[in-house]
Amino acid sequence: RRDSDTDYYRVVQMPASVEILPGSRTEIWGYNGMFPGPTIRATSGRKVVVTHQNRLPIPTVVHLHGGKTPPEHDGYPTDLVLPSGQSHIHQLEGHSLRVIGHGEYSYEYPNQQPAATLWYHDHRMDFTGPQVYRGLAGFYLLTDDQERSLPLPSEDRDIPLMICDRSFDEDGSLMYPSVDPSLMGQPGVVNEYMDGVLGDVILVNGVPWPYMNVSRVRYRFRVLNASNARRYRLVLDPPPPEGYSFTQIGSDVGLLESPVRLHKLEIAPAERYDLIVDFSAYQSGDVITLRNELGNGKTALVMQFRVSGKADEYSQIPSRLSEIERLAASDALVRRRFVFARGVARNSSHTSVAPVAMWTINGQPFDPMRIDADVELGATEIWRITTNVHHPVHLHLAHFQVLSRNGGPPGPYDAGWKDTVDMGQGDTVEILARFDGYKGKYVFHCHNLEHEDMAMMGNIRVS
Ligand code: C2O
Ligand code: CU
Ligand code: CU
Repeated sequence: RRDSDTDYYRVVQMPASVEILPGSRTEIWGYNGMFPGPTIRATSGRKVVVTHQNRLPIPTVVHLHGGKTPPEHDGYPTDLVLPSGQSHIHQLEGHSLRVIGHGEYSYEYPNQQPAATLWYHDHRMDFTGPQVYRGLAGFYLLTDDQERSLPLPSEDRDIPLMICDRSFDEDGSLMYPSVDPSLMGQPGVVNEYMDGVLGDVILVNGVPWPYMNVSRVRYRFRVLNASNARRYRLVLDPPPPEGYSFTQIGSDVGLLESPVRLHKLEIAPAERYDLIVDFSAYQSGDVITLRNELGNGKTALVMQFRVSGKADEYSQIPSRLSEIERLAASDALVRRRFVFARGVARNSSHTSVAPVAMWTINGQPFDPMRIDADVELGATEIWRITTNVHHPVHLHLAHFQVLSRNGGPPGPYDAGWKDTVDMGQGDTVEILARFDGYKGKYVFHCHNLEHEDMAMMGNIRVS
């Protein structure tokens, strides 16, 4: 049955051989055999149904990151879609695994939220890192009337940029270190992946070191850091004459109230920044590098812009972009505290060998059966989060605003509604999170995907 107020998509998850490095073939696992996967376009208030068929050799889980989604469609890490033709799961040691799809599943997205740059990616418990690394990630662009009424750059000047890092073997195959999560951190196990898996080639929309021909006008770039673990500090080189590389107009889950000018952009895994770059500040013939100041050698180079033509005004950046409800500390009735750090796990669902060091929240590794935050539907809460090293902290369902950073005001990259907050060594951040949408069980976790797979995840129960 098809509803006229619903948009339908079909996606086939399948292995494919693609050319990423010039002249060699790389085996990926892709949505529709592509990396990135197909961009799904949605409109606020119109439902989208995405039917995912699993033709991969492994169970999958699809999560719409940043979406306010009913729990049965949110991609809970143990809600598996089995490969076509496979009728049961072999490894049942994870007693809480639940099969929601035999060969396929239709995920439903109500899109009851404002225009935003969302993305979808695999979310299978213990295997999110390797499954995303092999290619299971794509954009989901949500628009609304309010956004469309703005004179922002559009069409071929509105470009999503998925930035991620990968390593390749000599034969072109993707190199993901296969590490048994239960061995991580054990004495005697050499562990070079404590920071997560880092690649030595930066890809933009699946292409290494690409260039783009641009006119001397404004462009809108929706930048997503889809890396498993790498952070970037992006700058334009050379910078425009007045020094500001970017004008930020949107954050993870929506437009800002008003534009923010940035000399550089620090972006952690899973974050999105909606940016305007004005190439009319450059001359025809200029070649501009998008550089990563946190990288070196090849990982310092992201992409190149080749400027041509006459300067023109085809768009504007309005000083008022959207109406944002400012949450205040007084809106919150509940405060919680979470410490993201290394811990010791005993007999968790993750490991039969005990005790082992793992990544934990409040000293506990992920247990699908344990509720870590019991939240009332519609509530606003203050979460005070502390991290021992770098962790991008992400909440499902709830969108939030940063209230404070290390006792002071929010940082330069904390503006607007967020679903992921970038946290550094020893940082304490307070967020004001609003748990509206749906009742049910959702996760929150570190979005360093290796940390997530090594149990740095907890459960929120909304009721
Ligand atoms: Cu982008 Cu729970 O993830
Ligand atoms: Cu998410
Ligand atoms: Cu982490």
